[in-house]
Amino acid sequence: MARVRPPPGPAISARRLTKRFAGRVAFDELTFEVERGEVFGFLGPNGAGKTTTVRTLGTLLAPTSGAATVAGLPLTPANGARIRRRIAVLPESPGLYLRLSVMENLRCFAGLYEVPAPAARIERALRAVDLTGRDRDICGTLSKGLRQRVALARALLADPQVIFLDEPASGLDPAAAREVHDLIGGLRRDGVTVFLTTHRLEEAERLCDRVAILNTTLRAAGRPAELRERLFAPALTVRTAVPLPDPGRVLSGLPGVEGWRQDGVAGYVLTVADPAAAAPALTRALVAAGADVLSIVPTRPTLEDVYFELVDPGQADRP
Ligand SMILES: Nc1ncnc2c1ncn2[C@@H]1O[C@H](COP(=O)(O)OP(=O)(O)O)[C@@H](O)[C@H]1O
Ligand SMILES: [Mg+2]
Repeated sequence: MARVRPPPGPAISARRLTKRFAGRVAFDELTFEVERGEVFGFLGPNGAGKTTTVRTLGTLLAPTSGAATVAGLPLTPANGARIRRRIAVLPESPGLYLRLSVMENLRCFAGLYEVPAPAARIERALRAVDLTGRDRDICGTLSKGLRQRVALARALLADPQVIFLDEPASGLDPAAAREVHDLIGGLRRDGVTVFLTTHRLEEAERLCDRVAILNTTLRAAGRPAELRERLFAPALTVRTAVPLPDPGRVLSGLPGVEGWRQDGVAGYVLTVADPAAAAPALTRALVAAGADVLSIVPTRPTLEDVYFELVDPGQADRP
């Protein structure tokens, strides 16, 4: 997609950004940056403040305190209209006119956004979401997944530098969710910065260059693999046919093994500095102890492990 060269600097930056409603803190002291062209995941349970963050960065709500820049512009009331011309927000419920056709919806919004050369933009947006040929369908007759694609086409009309997607795949069946995921991949290839909120861990892990984990405050931000490494030591998981009679005697004091815990009836998770270095001596020790070893596998913590480590499990809305 051709667009004017974006200004230098991050696509979004927030410094101690806070939003309070009467007596309730929606998000508190958020500091983070989103690089241009990346897919940035904003991950947190229900009530974490994701939608309020999107609405604030999208200029629909004023922050209570702190500062931010969006698409290169300071987030101030005076800049609201200029920021809105550089971004698009796809809210949780897309709010299309259900009695109108796809084309009528897009024409209507193109008019509202004062999009120049609307016919060509509409055509391109329909192509981007693979809806060419469905333009005469009445939106009310479309499946939820197709409606989400129309909403995405609408968001693309104004050729945004930054697009905010608030739980774009929520309520979609797996096939439709996958289509939305493919479209997000396409946005990244076109150089659009994507700010994606989700409470779905595998969605974040699969789509996002970096994720921030939010639960009113920001708990961590980084690439999913970095977060895993930062929070969890590598491990080896041993499974035996029958429980070891005295696991402590076999597993303690092995070279490279920092600790171990039981996992199930005949499973043992060993914290190690380097799985490849620790595995041979561990195997010899188990064989010497007469253990019937079923498997020894290195375990990689998932983003889910990171998430539940950082987000109070009592509040988490487990998927
Ligand atoms: N307009 C509002 N007035 C008062 N409280 C609100 C309003 N909008 C959101 N909240 C509160 O802010 C918190 C964060 O909500 P929200 O941003 O919708 O979370 P999420 O999108 O992560 O589920 C919740 O406690 C919610 O009840
Ligand atoms: Mg929300």
